[in-house]
This record gives sequence, C-alpha cells and structure tokens, in this order.
Amino acid sequence: MSQRFDFSVNGKPVSVALDNEATPLLNVLRNELGLMGTRFGCGLEQCGCCMVLIDGEPVKSCNRDVSTLAGKTVTTIEGIGSHERPHPLQQAFLDEQAGQCGYCLAGILISAKALLEKNPSPTRKEIALALDGNICRCGSHNRIMRAVEKAAAVMRAGERA
Ligand code: FES
Ligand code: FES
Repeated sequence: MSQRFDFSVNGKPVSVALDNEATPLLNVLRNELGLMGTRFGCGLEQCGCCMVLIDGEPVKSCNRDVSTLAGKTVTTIEGIGSHERPHPLQQAFLDEQAGQCGYCLAGILISAKALLEKNPSPTRKEIALALDGNICRCGSHNRIMRAVEKAAAVMRAGERA
C-alpha cells in the first residue's frame, strides 16, 4: 500500500505517493518529480554526483530515504539558477569551462554553493575540502577550483555593491 511523503523542493511543496518508504530521494527527484539535473553515479555515497541541499546542507541523495524528509527543504541544481538567470557559480563554471563531460557538475555546484553560503572567502584548501566528496572523472579539478574562487569573488563584490 502506498504512503504519501510531503516535503519541499526548490521552494515548492511536493507530495509523492510511494510503496516503499526506503525509496532514495534521488529516485524521487528523477522519476517522480522529473528533475533530471541530479545524477546517479555510484549509488553508494562515493561519487557525489547526486548531491542536493537538505535544509542548506549538502547531502548525497542516492542513499537518503524519502521517509526522512518530512518537513525538510530540498534544493536541487534546478533550484539554484536557470539559463536566463544563472547563479554566479554556474556563470563562473561556464566562463572557466570548468568541466568536460559535465556529469559531476551538478553535485559539485551544490557542494560549492553550500560552502560559499557559509564561507564567502574560502581558501584553496577549504574549497578542496568542501569538494572532497565529489569525484570528477575527467580531472577538471584545477578549472573547477578556479571557477569556485571566481564565483566567490563575484558574490563578494555583489554584496559590497
Ligand atoms: S550516486 Fe550518490 S554518491 Fe554516487
Ligand atoms: S567533468 Fe566529467 S566527470 Fe567531471
């Protein structure tokens, strides 16, 4: 028998009916809500490409049961910016061409956003630490680090303006 699960995604309330309360959030996002930006990689909390924010904290959604989300706020890559109004991180990643295949990037952008919310002026070491749970198989790490630094500078300048 199916149960309903209520939480919010990208600022909107959602209510999904599922038979299995252990259904991973990642499956709910992609299969029930049509939000395809969050990716499946390993399914074992190893790669980080399924990263989302839950109440502002970066969480790997491939192993997060839907039953734990009552009243929680989930933010996916679709919720941080759009083609028309990219987040400074998204713009910096484009400017720096910080990626090759792009498969890892949604997860990396989510982790970077969580970092910059807490720490607007991270050092390289702090950026590396914040992205430690995200694997980029294309080896774009240098450009990714540069893009995060650039976005942080743009966001700081925006706050001063
Ligand atoms: S798919 Fe979740 S960490 Fe790899
Ligand atoms: S850009 Fe290909 S895995 Fe990171």
